[in-house]
Amino acid sequence: MENKLRTLKENAELEITSADSMEVLEKARVKYLGKKGELTEILRGMGSLSSEERPIIGKVANEVREAIETLLEEAKSTMKSKVLQQQLKKETIDITMPGKKEKIGKKHPLTQGLDELKNIFIGMGFKIAEGPEVETVYYNFDALNAAPNHPSRDMTDTFYINEELILRTQTSPVQVRVMEKMKPPIRIISPGRCFRNDTPDATHTPMFHQLEGLVIDKGITLGDLKGTLEVFAKTFLGSHTEVKFRPHHFPFTEPSAEVDASCFKCEGDGCNFCKGSGWIELLGCGMVHPNVLRNCGIDPEEYSGFAFGMGIDRLVMLKYGIDDIRLLFENDMRFLNQF
Ligand code: DAH
Repeated sequence: MENKLRTLKENAELEITSADSMEVLEKARVKYLGKKGELTEILRGMGSLSSEERPIIGKVANEVREAIETLLEEAKSTMKSKVLQQQLKKETIDITMPGKKEKIGKKHPLTQGLDELKNIFIGMGFKIAEGPEVETVYYNFDALNAAPNHPSRDMTDTFYINEELILRTQTSPVQVRVMEKMKPPIRIISPGRCFRNDTPDATHTPMFHQLEGLVIDKGITLGDLKGTLEVFAKTFLGSHTEVKFRPHHFPFTEPSAEVDASCFKCEGDGCNFCKGSGWIELLGCGMVHPNVLRNCGIDPEEYSGFAFGMGIDRLVMLKYGIDDIRLLFENDMRFLNQF
């Protein structure tokens, strides 16, 4: 029996020292020390031993168990650090390798320009209003006092969805929507997309952006209109900018005007940017027509106001010296990254 125990110990030693994984070590433990293991098997035979032999074999059996246990413990801890080392080796990062560059976007020049425009008007106490891009003929034309035969209503100028629905051609319908809902005093701007049936060229795209302004209160005069737009032009284009009001016609304002700014490139001397005139057209404006006020349920005897509308794309082009509007919509990062 003693021999059996010694052989068992030798076998166990061999198996444990040559094990190459945790699983093999665990199997060895079950095989030799487990409840149904070989050591238990041998000890079961102790009943047939004499009372002199029993303590001696018992002692040897205990020594064998302890030896195997110690061996297993050592082998397991060696295995653990080996596994860790292998894992560390596998997971090392080569810090000399070039990293992946994150491409960080930036604001489109139109968004930058719009942010600036909004800030200027918010600074003068305006709030921002919004209206739908798919608009009714009523809001886009009728309520704005456009004659039934006004040329802009033509299919060749306007995108019709059906007889009553169009893609808005201007942001002016927001004026009507605001006046229907709000009681004066009203002081809003409304930027957004507009659509016209134009063939794209350097100054036209079928989709473009406008910013509408509307002020309604008691006693608003042409002087308020001029002052507001002069402050706007000087803030946006530079304090040396001169502003000129030219009589014009819009169905929804009376009187109406177009506003020109002195050319910021040649400062009025005349250059190819301003086509030699020294002036650049900025926007349309006027005193809100009494018919429009009435259409919105506002009494023109009690209230008056002014409105204006400007092309955002155009203003951004002027400010940044962009000579083709199509560049704004081609999404070429080589172009956009310059701003
Ligand atoms: N809606 C006009 C256009 O698209 C621009 C405009 C002119 C708006 C005068 C106004 C205004 O509010 O008073 O050409």
